[in-house]
This record gives sequence, structure tokens and C-alpha cells, in this order.
Amino acid sequence: MCGIIGYIGEKNVYAVLINGLKRLEYRGYDSAGVAICNSKLNIYKQQGKVSSLEKYIADKDVAGTMGIAHTRWATHGEPNDKNAHPHLSMKGKFSIVHNGIIENYADLKKDLIREGVKFQSDTDTEVLVNLIEYFYDQDESVTAEMAIRLALSKVVGAYGIVVVCRDELNKIIAARKGSPLVIGIGRGEYFIASDASPIIEYTNQVVYLNDYDVAIIGKDTLILKNIENSSVAMTIQKLDMSIGEMEKGDFEHFMLKEIFEQPKTISDTFRGRVSPDKTDIILGGLLDVFPKIEKARRIIIIGCGTSWHAALIGEYLIEEYARISVEVEYASEFRYRKPVLTKEDVVIAISQSGETADTLAALKMAKEEGALILGICNVVGSSIARETDAGVYTHAGVEIGVASTKAFTAQVTVLTMLALKLAKTKNIISQDTFVSLIKELYEIPEKIKTILTTHLYIKKVAEKYKDAVNALYLGRGYLFPVALEGALKLKEISYVHAEGYAAGEMKHGPIALIDEKIPVVVVASQDGFYEKIVSNIQEVKARKGDIIAVVSEGDNHLKELADDTFEIPKAHPALAPLLAVIPLQLFAYHIAVLRGCNIDQPRNLAKSVTVE
Ligand code: G6P
Repeated sequence: MCGIIGYIGEKNVYAVLINGLKRLEYRGYDSAGVAICNSKLNIYKQQGKVSSLEKYIADKDVAGTMGIAHTRWATHGEPNDKNAHPHLSMKGKFSIVHNGIIENYADLKKDLIREGVKFQSDTDTEVLVNLIEYFYDQDESVTAEMAIRLALSKVVGAYGIVVVCRDELNKIIAARKGSPLVIGIGRGEYFIASDASPIIEYTNQVVYLNDYDVAIIGKDTLILKNIENSSVAMTIQKLDMSIGEMEKGDFEHFMLKEIFEQPKTISDTFRGRVSPDKTDIILGGLLDVFPKIEKARRIIIIGCGTSWHAALIGEYLIEEYARISVEVEYASEFRYRKPVLTKEDVVIAISQSGETADTLAALKMAKEEGALILGICNVVGSSIARETDAGVYTHAGVEIGVASTKAFTAQVTVLTMLALKLAKTKNIISQDTFVSLIKELYEIPEKIKTILTTHLYIKKVAEKYKDAVNALYLGRGYLFPVALEGALKLKEISYVHAEGYAAGEMKHGPIALIDEKIPVVVVASQDGFYEKIVSNIQEVKARKGDIIAVVSEGDNHLKELADDTFEIPKAHPALAPLLAVIPLQLFAYHIAVLRGCNIDQPRNLAKSVTVE
């Protein structure tokens, strides 16, 4: 969480920093700040969004060609001006921006208070910057870089930090453990950021920092070391993204743009991975490890939020087609509950950002236990992608809306391909079934385009339900995780309390909630559960609940039963989630717009949760 940007070069640093903060704002938007270095260190920070900071700075001195900036998602200390970053050390020698959590900050703070340090904020970050200053002041021979390394050796927790020192205003020092940092290489200039989004408009040459790396960055020099002061080999990578991906274009919100991108992103996910005659799937990133996956005793899929919902669909797909036992776990539970893991297990982490702290930690734990660890990530070069033994990128392009949409359908597409490839390799799927499923997968983008044309109709239905206080989402089989995802979308962006439930479980509790005030969204399709879902709808109707049903086209029976329906084209049950989720994304979007909510920056949330 939190977005960091730093710059050293010849450009007007303030413009680079403020533009960078705007691109990074999806990572946190409780407060923002900049430190501009000219002959001194000028720090400006404000509670609220980057736009508030911009207004506040309008008449301030921002001349300079070096600086650091931060947009915050609060962990320690409430979101206010004093807790905003950058933080300054007590004597004003160091300024820092930080993403992560210093877990032993309370003990360190006590020690520093004993040494006479006075604190202005409630943050763990201010402790770290004072610890750096403390070591710096121990001896004249201690440089800023040495002081930072000494301080970091005392820290327990996670950090991505960028630091400037008043006495050494010709360099920026960055270090990472657990929280991502990437350095963009320009001509006579360097950029440092939490992710590549603020860098891409200047350069596509980047170096991703690894844990325990310390980078010393001058205008014309980049030195990479580790925390023990040994030099570290540098790998320069080329970014494969375009600036257009970071713009909203004609759309009012990133979320809407990303919903509408799904026909393309799903095609991008399977492009090049299916043989031209559609008789085989090639997942290049898994080639070397495929024999091991095929023989896995079981597959455990871990993730958080929307990625966890995709994992559930993966479980249904892999068990049905590849007949390998699958367990799906919340990464945050898995990492702490002492699971039994063996070398025959395969653990797959699903993560859009590839940076979610719980998923990353769960993966590392599984690796230590000897399991083969794989990743399904969207962000190329992300921590999870680099930690895993092998993996598959989703290729959905940059996702900026905090509520995940196109990443979800891309993850489900990868899982579909994985299940089918495993089934084929194990020789337990007929060639006809395999080819017909692949052909249907190819038709999904066009079918989504059809659903997207109903966008304004969905808006009309949303008008009817916009004042609901609660909502229930029900689904069975492959559509149960879709019900969970639909409920999550509504919760995240419109703040309506919504619960997703397996429809068969309704009578074991949620039915007590049903009255004329609660809309019940039923995700139904004409699969083996059709009669059962019809019964569930009747149970709701009998209790005066309003039904909004996602139905297959031509399903007049459900159309008559339901108060409102969202039609989706017919599809094989295993592929139906890719269609059924689309109207639910749009429904949540319109409800949130009608309620006046901030779509791309919902309260209290952030896109990438790099803290526990
Ligand atoms: C946050 C985001 C969600 C996302 C979840 C997992 O909560 O707001 O949209 O699903 O993290 O993120 P990941 O990047 O690991 O998929």
C-alpha cells in the first residue's frame, strides 16, 4: 500500500512528482506529500487526495531537480497532515517516504526517546528516519548510505523506502524489503517508484529492486548494493506497457474502461497460447514444471479478494476436468494456520498486482516446505512473479480501478486453460470436448461485447435499486464464486452491504434476511442446477424479496419469475462465469455512480495491499 515516487535529474522535479502521485493514487489516498530538494529540504504535505496537496502547494517554492513524494494508505496513525509522508528526522537531516510496516517500531521508538529524540507523528516511518539520523550522528565518518544500512539492520518488518539527506543533496537512496520499488533509467536522470506506472512516460528501461537491495542513485549513476554493503548485479528490464493504458480515454472512470476492455483482455490472455487448430494449449511459462503439476498430490490455490474468487472457479475447473484435488485458501489464513504441505503439493498464487503481502508470505512459506510454487499474476516482474518457480501472466494490461474487473476474467481464462491442458496431458478429456471448449472460449469476447451493449439498460435497473441497504447474491456451481464476486463489487464501490452465498445454503440462514426491502441477485444459467435455482427464486419470492436474475438468453421462464433480468448469451457452464460476472460489474458500477461514490478510489481501500 502507499505510492512512492522519487526523481533526480534535470527536469522540474515538482511536475514529475505530482504527475507520479496522480498515477500512483490508486495505491492509497489518505494523504499526500512531497519533499523538494534544492539548497535545502522543503516538505509539503496534506491530508486528503493529491488534488488537495496540489492546491496547498500552488504558492510554495517548488524549484528543484531532485525530490521524493508519497501518497498514503494509513496503517500506523490516522490519516492527517502530521502523519503524512515525507517524514523529517528531528534535526532535519533526513527525509523519508516509506511503504510497509516497521513491526518493532515501538521498541525502537522507546530507545530513541531515551536518546532525546522528539516525535511529531504517530507513524512507524518517523521512527525509521530518526534511527537513520541517530546512526548518522554517531561519528563523522558515517555517511548517509551507511546510516541507512545500519538502521535497516535493526528493523523488523517490511519496507520500500526512499531517503534524501540534507548534507548529500546529490543522491537519493532507496531500499527494499517486502514492499516493491522499481527504478526507471533515463538519460542523466533516474526515477524511483512503487510501480512502473509513473515511470513509463519517461523511460521503459527499469531495474526492479529485490529484498535487501540498497540503491544509491545520482543524476548519472546507479549503484546497487545489499544491506551488508556487497555489490549486487543489476538486471535492466524493458517495460512492456504503454502510456495509453494509464489514461481513462473517453470513459468517466477507470473501472468502466476496464470493464469495457474485457473482450480484448480475454483475447490477449489466450492469444499465442492455443495452437492454430485449437487442439492444444501451450503455457510457455509452465513447460518445465508441467510434469510435476500433472502428478501433483493436490493443488492449493491461494489469493485474496477478487483473486480468491477466481481461485474458487479454478478449483471447480481443475477438479472437474483434470481430476486433481484442489484446495482454495485465503492467503492470510493459510500462512498462519500451519497447513500440512509436502513436496508433492503444488501451490498456485493468484494475484493481479503480484505484491499482496499475505499472498507473497504464504507463497514463501509453501516454498520453504518444499512445494512447487506457481504464480498467476498480471503485473510483469512483480514480487510474486519473481518469487515463484514458474507461472503464467494474465496479460490484462494495467488495472487501475481499485475494484478488480478485467484482472478477474483474465485469471479465470488462465485457470480454464490450465485445467484443460492438465486434462489433455493426463489424457482424460476427449479431443472433441477439448476442442469444443476451446472454440467456446474463443467466442467469449464477442459474447461479452453483446452484454456490454446492455450497459444503459443495466443502469436503468440500478436506478431502481440504488437505495438498497443490503443485498444478497446467490449462485450455484461455477456461478457461486460469481455471486461472491458480484457482492464484493457492490460492497467495495457503493458501500451497500452485500453478501454472496451458495444458493443451496440460503435456507440455512440468509433466508431470514429476506423481506420486501432486500434485492436478491440470482446468478442462474441453464446448467444442471436450473431446477434448483428456480426453487431458490421461488423461496425468495414467497417472502416478498425482489429478484434480479442473470439469465441465459431466451430463458423466458426465469424472466417471468424475476423482477428484473440481465440476459447473457448461452455458454458452456464451465465458461459461464466469464459472462455472468459482466452485468454484475456494471450493476455495481452504476449503483455506486448513482449513490455519488468515488468509483476508482473507494473509501478505505487500496489497489495493492502490501501490508498485512
Ligand atoms: C485488494 C484490492 C482487490 C484485490 C485484492 C487482491 O483488496 O482492492 O481488488 O482483489 O487486493 O489483490 P491482488 O493484487 O493480490 O490480486
